[in-house]
Amino acid sequence: MRYNLHMSDVKKSGVALIEKQSLEEIKKADNLKALEEIKIKYLGRKRGMITAQLRSLKSLSLSRRRLLGPIVNKLRERIEKALKSRTEEIKKKNNTGADIDVTAPGRRVIRGRLHPLTLIDREVRAIFRRLNFSIVEGTEVESEYYNFDALNIPAGHPARDMWDTFWLWRHKTESKMNALLRTHTSPVQVRFMERNRPPFQIIVPGRVFRFEATDTTHEMNFHQVEGLMVGKDISLANFKYIIEQFLNQLFKRKIETRLRPSYFPFTEPSVEVDIKWRGRWLEVMGAGMVNPAVFKAAGYNARAWQGFAFGVGLERLAMIKYRVPDIRLFHSGDVRFVKQF
Ligand code: PHE
Repeated sequence: MRYNLHMSDVKKSGVALIEKQSLEEIKKADNLKALEEIKIKYLGRKRGMITAQLRSLKSLSLSRRRLLGPIVNKLRERIEKALKSRTEEIKKKNNTGADIDVTAPGRRVIRGRLHPLTLIDREVRAIFRRLNFSIVEGTEVESEYYNFDALNIPAGHPARDMWDTFWLWRHKTESKMNALLRTHTSPVQVRFMERNRPPFQIIVPGRVFRFEATDTTHEMNFHQVEGLMVGKDISLANFKYIIEQFLNQLFKRKIETRLRPSYFPFTEPSVEVDIKWRGRWLEVMGAGMVNPAVFKAAGYNARAWQGFAFGVGLERLAMIKYRVPDIRLFHSGDVRFVKQF
């Protein structure tokens, strides 16, 4: 039903209510986000209350449109003005000229992490650097000669069974021409000595490979740190001191060690190093005095020099230090694992 509109009708209509309500909300708003929401609520293109009022004018008669139109338009202008001045006030209060709402919640920053092996590798290098060792690296693809023969492990020697090998090619009788994935970092001992004169002390961190079935403590692919110190009168006592310094610093406590007799073709005598950890003896590395046969292979006068060598598994150290129960976790690619370090 159509009817003539008077000012009293205007008051009764929603417009007056909207005016009171909107201006109050604007006054109460205390951040830019709230103001933006108010703006959408009243002036939004799709569902704004004022917009709806303006749209509904179309269905009114001309006379009422003439009466109500300017009223609604005025109200829209008033709301716009109120929004603008409140925005200025809030910005001033936030004390920044930019369009930054300092009250907005911060966005969470996702930070990357270092893999536990990276952490332990860096730590090992830093400790040995402090002990005046140099850091040397070799290659992952190695010749049969450096991985075995030069280390006093000739073809057919039963000790070769200690290292299950990934062979890359092997058809020449010349062992320098046969390629494999190094089974340990020891070949770098000979490579380094061929090019350097003693005295020196080096470590060789690097990736090594074993053609083996995996379980909680064995991986086909792991890391070792080789140590080699050569001089005129280096003894096993020097080794014990250096390795205890290393272990104390790595585990940040006094570590009790024990040297047990062992066998490696490239050291004589050979030992295993055990550490006392939570009341139990754990084997952590192989070591020994450099076998004169290795000095000879490197072109040294074996009577003139003495030295110690050791080889320690990086994963093994990380498993002890960080209490990792399964070596396969290191290369699992599982972020839930890496996130814990
Ligand atoms: N290369 C030996 C291994 O992989 C470890 C070792 C290095 C032992 C140096 C003695 C001296 O088992």
